[in-house]
Amino acid sequence: MFIEWNKERHSIGIPTIDNQHRELFVITNQLHDLLDKDQYQEEAIKILKRLYAYTNYHFASEEGLLREYSYPGFSDHQNIHKTFTNKIKETLEGIRQKRNFSLAPLLDFLVEWILKHIQVEDVKYAAFFKESSIETDVNFSVSDQKRYDVLDQWEKQKLHLEIVGIDNQHKELIYILQQTNDLQHTSDSRRKIYLPIIIKKLFYYSQFHFSYEEEHMAKNGFPLLKEQQESHKTFIREILNFAEEYKKGIISLTDEIILFLKDWTINHILTEDKKYKVFLESDKEIQS
Ligand SMILES: [Fe+2]
Ligand SMILES: [Fe+2]
Ligand SMILES: [Fe+2]
Repeated sequence: MFIEWNKERHSIGIPTIDNQHRELFVITNQLHDLLDKDQYQEEAIKILKRLYAYTNYHFASEEGLLREYSYPGFSDHQNIHKTFTNKIKETLEGIRQKRNFSLAPLLDFLVEWILKHIQVEDVKYAAFFKESSIETDVNFSVSDQKRYDVLDQWEKQKLHLEIVGIDNQHKELIYILQQTNDLQHTSDSRRKIYLPIIIKKLFYYSQFHFSYEEEHMAKNGFPLLKEQQESHKTFIREILNFAEEYKKGIISLTDEIILFLKDWTINHILTEDKKYKVFLESDKEIQS
């Protein structure tokens, strides 16, 4: 393992953020594992894309939190995030254009940046929240309406596949959808602030999740992988369309979009992803 999580050294005392930082360690380690291979360009692109998606999601989560709880260093923190995502983007473009690329220096940069950022910048906002006795919640409610209990929905709809990694990610998706839904029931001024942040979370988190899920399926030889990829693309396209309209100045999030996102996710898990669970179970029976 290249970078190992150490509670004493790396925890900032906010469990949801700590978990996200841990995921950054996991993806960085996956990239490091490629060093043992002779040909790693293609794999590196795949993992870097995942790192890019996850980092964007993580930064949007942090920025939402800093904004919500009025952290004074908000915009500086946001700018620091931007330099990092730009660097990953440039690297990705470089590899695609087959510019000379070597993994080792990139890994050094990633580890140094991530560790320093957590230990210097992120601890600052954590200290601020602690001093101000603020109880933080990454999935804070954007509206003051009563929210439905995500975990309750989770049980009722029987969304679990009993595949731990995928289940946790689906749960996270449901949380973000809940926040998206909250946007409908809030003031215009709050919507204006949080809509870009939450859509960014949804967009990048679903990219990260789909990449993880497709890799899981490919490894296990799931015959319906192509259908999954197509289906995932539809979802991403829909969010992109919305983001485009938003850029043009149409900031309303219509009921149809919200309904589409919610329905798509629940249906997709219950029908398409469930087929994968059934496939894995039947495969086990054959083996045993
Ligand atoms: Fe940060
Ligand atoms: Fe899924
Ligand atoms: Fe899926």
